[in-house]
Amino acid sequence: MSGMRPTGKLHLGHYMGVLKNWVTLQDQYPCFFSIADWHALTTKYDDTASLKDNILEMALDWLAAGIDPQKATLFVQSSIPEIAELHLLLSMITPAKWVQTDPTLKDMVAMLHEDLSYGLLGYPVLQTVDILSVRAGLVPVGKDQLAHLEISRDIARRFNHLYQTDLFAEPRPLLTETPMLIGLDGRKMGKSFNNAIYLSDSAEETWSKVKTAITDPARVKRTDPGTPENCEVVYKYYQAFADANAQAVTAEECRAASRGCMDCKKQLGELINAQMAPLRERRALYASDKAQVETLLKTGGDKARARCQETLQQVKTLMKLF
Ligand code: TRP
Ligand code: SF4
Repeated sequence: MSGMRPTGKLHLGHYMGVLKNWVTLQDQYPCFFSIADWHALTTKYDDTASLKDNILEMALDWLAAGIDPQKATLFVQSSIPEIAELHLLLSMITPAKWVQTDPTLKDMVAMLHEDLSYGLLGYPVLQTVDILSVRAGLVPVGKDQLAHLEISRDIARRFNHLYQTDLFAEPRPLLTETPMLIGLDGRKMGKSFNNAIYLSDSAEETWSKVKTAITDPARVKRTDPGTPENCEVVYKYYQAFADANAQAVTAEECRAASRGCMDCKKQLGELINAQMAPLRERRALYASDKAQVETLLKTGGDKARARCQETLQQVKTLMKLF
């Protein structure tokens, strides 16, 4: 089980670092992938005009990347009210100290321009419910989510202990090895820096962005030999997108100054565009039939919901509720 907040369009970094892994996992495990719109509300409650759009666009990005609704269950978090009810119940057994000391949450609060809300404080508990409600054992996430997941394990253990059950497995992280792709300007890839290539970008847009990528700063003239190791963006992208042979040729020609940086970027643009072509095709297909995407999210939601209802029923029974 994993999720993403629908806060904007996804870029190549999300694809290489997260989605590609999900696509592999969907062939190895039954998978649940949640568009966590309630989690988006924990910080974006005052700017909800684009939320619906963002949910659909995120679904399109996932489908484009190759998440297959025949294999994996994709759904919108808020279509499952049982998640909210379970969140309420699990919040009762969660010591406030656990969430107050969550370093990932502290980082989120530090970036905020306002006081911490009650809802944001519950972020890790809500995420725990995402995972436990479908009784997932493995959670593919990045390093930044490990602190949240530690709380999930603690809550699962505490619930089992309090109500003498083994209902919840302690969910384990499935860490992704691939390093996050850097932005075209060498900073973290993201919308705030305008340095990202989006899954929804066309081949032309992609090429005009690749053109702006930084290269080895010491290579001033075309005749200067370059140092691929100091080419923080273009060469790094070759390491992500090119096969070993093409990488070696690039490094060699760079060092020998037999390849110019513009040429090098041009080839990189072609490499990226070749790999993005099937994604763009799938994206366009689904984008032309948004009703189909909504149906598919609803079907996924029904399937996930049935599982959440089962979990909630068991929780209520174990807690001996009215
Ligand atoms: N907090 C996660 C993130 O920001 C998103 C998320 C929501 C999630 N629910 C989840 C991740 C459940 C894993 C499992 O990336
Ligand atoms: Fe980077 Fe390629 Fe230029 Fe070498 S030739 S510095 S690898 S862009």
